[in-house]
Amino acid sequence: MSTPLSFVELFLAELTTLGFASDREVWFHGRIDSTSDDLIRRLRSGAPAGTVVAAACQEAGRGRKGRIWHSPEGANLYVSLAIEVSEPTDGFLPLLPLAAGVATSDVIRKNAPVEPRLKWPNDIIVSGKKLAGILCELPEPASRPVIAVVGLGVNITVSSFPLELSDIATSLSSLIDGEPQNLPHPALLAAQWVGELEKWMQRIQSGRKNELPDAWRARAEPFGRRVRVGKIEGTTVDLSEDGRLLVLQDSGEQVVVAGGIIEYIK
Ligand code: BTN
Repeated sequence: MSTPLSFVELFLAELTTLGFASDREVWFHGRIDSTSDDLIRRLRSGAPAGTVVAAACQEAGRGRKGRIWHSPEGANLYVSLAIEVSEPTDGFLPLLPLAAGVATSDVIRKNAPVEPRLKWPNDIIVSGKKLAGILCELPEPASRPVIAVVGLGVNITVSSFPLELSDIATSLSSLIDGEPQNLPHPALLAAQWVGELEKWMQRIQSGRKNELPDAWRARAEPFGRRVRVGKIEGTTVDLSEDGRLLVLQDSGEQVVVAGGIIEYIK
């Protein structure tokens, strides 16, 4: 009987942007604190842009705004990618979360019969619940060239969530009726996601960044939702061309939201 291919072998066989970062390193851990923390440590020790770290389980998975990312062992996806961001002062960085969200939405849609929608900036929502999340970070100390770390978590096989997440999180196995073997392998999702994201970064770096807001809008939840973000409350209007969210307050004043967790008000 042949040995099943490892995560790294499957990943490299599926990756379409092998030449984008030809010296990339690909690491897979059975258990790690956080794939993003491991990647940041590797970057500090000289790992190149393009390096990928994935794991079967995270003991300290991190979400946006200091939240915990539920990361049990199983066939969920926990992956982080180091990506060079060459124009940090030119409106480039705010586009990275959008590109990561568009890439995730497309890869999930390609591999499973679900209709993901993006909630600003890049939560992946299916049937009103979160299926996947993305964390973009600029590791300290700042490097030259600037390298960002993008971490993706996709709930694939997890069947139960802690009480506080049970109403707001979902997984592919809960959404799809069918056999577990019909669920996508985490390594294939990871490779396709890295490929899609790197293609977006190539487009952006070659002056085609104006394509991204429309791609994001086409995959987003409809605007016109009542939201709260920090102290701001109002109705979502649109995405700005530099990737921020425009919200119309009841006072008639339109504000530009650059960060924070968007809470829908029903
Ligand atoms: C969020 O929606 O709050 C972002 C969640 C990001 C989770 C991923 S899992 C892989 C990577 N490692 C981490 O510790 N976090 C990200």
